[in-house]
Amino acid sequence: MNSTTQKRVCIIGGGASGITAIKQLLDEGHVPVCFERSADMGGVFNYKKDQDSAVESGLVNGVYKNTVLTISNYLMCFSDLPPTGRRRHWHHTEYRQYLSDYIDKFNLAPHINLQHRVTKVVPVNQGTNGYQVTVQGPNGAEQVQQFDALAVCSGTHQIANIPNIKGLESFAGKISHGSQYNTSDMAKGKRVLCVGLGESSADITREISETADECHLALRSYPFLIPRNLNHSSSDAWTSRLHHDYHTPKHESAISYLMLLVYYLLLRPFLFKRDRAKMDSFDQDTSQNMLDLNTPGSTENVKLIKAWNYLSKGRRFATKNVTFVPNIINGKIQVNASGIDRFTAQQVIFNDGTRKDIDLVMFATGYKENFDFIEGFQLKDNNVRNLFMNSIPTDLHNCAFIGWARPVTGGIPACSEMAARYFALLVSGKRKIPADAQQRIAADQKFYHEFYSKNSPTLNTVVGWKRHLENLAELIGCQVHTARYILQPGLFVRLFAGSLVPSQYRLEGPHAMPDSAARSIREIPITLPSSHILYGIKMNLSNKFKFLRQRALARKTNLDYSEFFSEWFRFDIPLTLKDIHRFSFRADDFNKKFNKL
Ligand SMILES: Cc1cc2nc3c(=O)[nH]c(=O)nc-3n(C[C@H](O)[C@H](O)[C@H](O)COP(=O)(O)OP(=O)(O)OC[C@H]3O[C@@H](n4cnc5c(N)ncnc54)[C@H](O)[C@@H]3O)c2cc1C
Ligand SMILES: NC(=O)c1ccc[n+]([C@@H]2O[C@H](COP(=O)([O-])OP(=O)(O)OC[C@H]3O[C@@H](n4cnc5c(N)ncnc54)[C@H](OP(=O)(O)O)[C@@H]3O)[C@@H](O)[C@H]2O)c1
Repeated sequence: MNSTTQKRVCIIGGGASGITAIKQLLDEGHVPVCFERSADMGGVFNYKKDQDSAVESGLVNGVYKNTVLTISNYLMCFSDLPPTGRRRHWHHTEYRQYLSDYIDKFNLAPHINLQHRVTKVVPVNQGTNGYQVTVQGPNGAEQVQQFDALAVCSGTHQIANIPNIKGLESFAGKISHGSQYNTSDMAKGKRVLCVGLGESSADITREISETADECHLALRSYPFLIPRNLNHSSSDAWTSRLHHDYHTPKHESAISYLMLLVYYLLLRPFLFKRDRAKMDSFDQDTSQNMLDLNTPGSTENVKLIKAWNYLSKGRRFATKNVTFVPNIINGKIQVNASGIDRFTAQQVIFNDGTRKDIDLVMFATGYKENFDFIEGFQLKDNNVRNLFMNSIPTDLHNCAFIGWARPVTGGIPACSEMAARYFALLVSGKRKIPADAQQRIAADQKFYHEFYSKNSPTLNTVVGWKRHLENLAELIGCQVHTARYILQPGLFVRLFAGSLVPSQYRLEGPHAMPDSAARSIREIPITLPSSHILYGIKMNLSNKFKFLRQRALARKTNLDYSEFFSEWFRFDIPLTLKDIHRFSFRADDFNKKFNKL
C-alpha cells in the first residue's frame, strides 16, 4: 500500500473490539495506534484480582471471579483463530487467554499503548481532515496527536447504569452495581435486594442467594430465558443459517436449499449420525439431564422457564443463563415482579405494596453510553441504532463505533471483527457507505424493534446474528455463495446446519483463508436436531418464494408470540395456566385472585 492510501488510525480501547480492529487495519496495510487506559489488554475480561482498588480508581470490573461465558467458544472466537477441541463455555480466564493468543499470533502488541487514556477527540471538518486526539499518558501529561481515521472501541459495558428510583438517595444501606461485583462474600449476613435479571444478575443473584441472610429479586418485567444447554450441547449450536430463517439473503440461492434437501434425504445416516458426547459444554456428564451449569432439567425448573417466557411476551433480548432458577424453586431467592415503587432509609417498597428490610442493594441493571469526549458529536437519541450497522456514523468521515452490536445468540467480538473489516476497507477507499444507508438504518430499526426490542426498549445494541453478519458480509464482499460448495457435501451441509461460525466469512472475499476456514467448519459436529433441519429448509425455501413468504408473514402477524416462545423447548413438560400464576410472583396478581374467591 502506498503512503497516500495508508492511513494512521486511532483506536480507543484495548478490549476484544479494539484488538480485532488493530488486526483488520493491519491486514489492509494501515497504521493502527491503539490507546488503552488500563494497564492491560482485554477490556471487561481483564480481570483484576484486587477488585476494590480497581473500583476506587474508576475502572469497571466487568467479569466476576466465577464468570463462565454465556456464548460457547465456537461463536466467541474470531474468524482467523478458531478454537481447537470441542464446544465449551469458557471460564473468563480462558477467554482472556484466547485474546492473548490472538495478540501473539498476529503480533499486535507493538501497536498498543497501555495506560493511555483518550480524553478528547476533535473531528476536523467532520473528520474529512482527520481527528485531533488528546491522550493522557501514564505520568498524567497530555499530548495531542493527529490521525486520519478513528475507531471508537471504548466498550458498551463500561459505564454502570443505576436507575433513578424514588428515595434511593435516602437509603442508608450499601448500594452496589454488577460491574463492582466479584464474589458473594460481600453479601454474608446481609439482607440483599438484587435488581434486574439480565445475564449479570442471573449469576450474581444466584451467588448472593447462597450466602446472604435473605435475597430478594426485583423485576420490572419477565426476562425471556434460554438455557445454555440443549440436547446435551450448548444451545448456541442452534445458531445456524437454517435456524435463523427470518433472514434469507439473496446470495443463499433456492437451488442451495433444494440441494440441501436432497443431501438430507440421501446422506442423513452418515452426516447426522448423532452419537452423544460424554461431556456437555460445561464439562458435565451428559447422562444427567442438565439445562445449564449445575442446573437439572427438573419439571419445576422447566415450568418456571416456560412460564416466564410466556409472561415475557417474547420479542426481547434473551437471558441465556438459567442457573438461578433452582434457587427460586427452593425459596433462596424471593422474587417480586411488580417493580420498585421507592426506597426508605431501611426498606424497599414494591409497587404491589410489599415492604422488605434491606442492607444492600445490588443493581444489575446494565450499562449506559457516553460519547461526550468526541467534540461536537451528538449521537441521535444516544441510540446506536442511528449508526449504519450499529457502527458507522453517516455524519463523520472515516469513523466507526466498534462493539455496539450485541447478538441475541452469538458473540459480540465476532460482530466487532466484521464491523472492523468493513471499516478498514472504508478507510482504504475500497468500499463506500451505500447511498441508501439512511433507509437501511430505518429498516434495521423497524426490524429489530419488532423482533427484539419491543419489550426491552432500552436495549438498542441487540442484533440478530445471521442478519447482522450477513449484511456486513455483503458490504465487505465476503458473503458465502453457498451454491459454490454443492460438490463438497460435508462442507455444504455444515454451512447450513452446522453453527454459523465466524470462519464462514473467511471462505471468500478480502483476506480470505479458504482452506483453513473450510477445515475448521468441517470439524464442527452438526447438533441441530434432524426435525429442525427439515423445518429450517422449509422455512428458508418459503422465504425464497415470495408468495409463500407473504403468506408466512401474514400468519406471523396474527401469531401470539408469547405462547409461541413459551413452548419452544421440552414439549414433554407442558405449561398450564396454574403454572403461569404460580410463577408470576406478583402479590397484586395473587391479591386480585384471592379477593375474587
Ligand atoms: C460478566 C460479563 C460476561 C460477559 N460474557 C459475554 C459472553 O459470553 N459473550 C459475549 O459476546 N459478550 C460477553 N460480555 C460482553 C462483553 O462486555 C463484550 O463481549 C466485550 O467486552 C466487548 O469488547 P469491547 O472491546 O467492545 O469492550 P470492552 O471489553 O468494554 O473494552 C473497552 C476498552 O476500552 C477502554 N477504554 C474505554 N474508554 C477509554 C478511553 N477514553 N481511553 C482509552 N481506553 C479506553 C477500556 O478500559 C476497555 O479496556 C460479557 C460481559 C460481562 C460484564
Ligand atoms: N455469564 C456471562 O456470560 C455473562 C454474565 C453477565 C453479563 N454478560 C453480558 O454482559 C452484558 C451486560 O449484561 P447485564 O446483565 O449486566 O445487563 P443487561 O443485559 O443490560 O440487563 C439489564 C437488566 O436490568 C434490568 N433493568 C434495567 N433498568 C431497570 C430498572 N430501572 N428497574 C429494574 N430493572 C431494570 C433490565 O430489565 P428490562 O428487560 O426490564 O429492561 C435487564 O433485566 C451483556 O452483553 C451480557 O450478555 C454475560
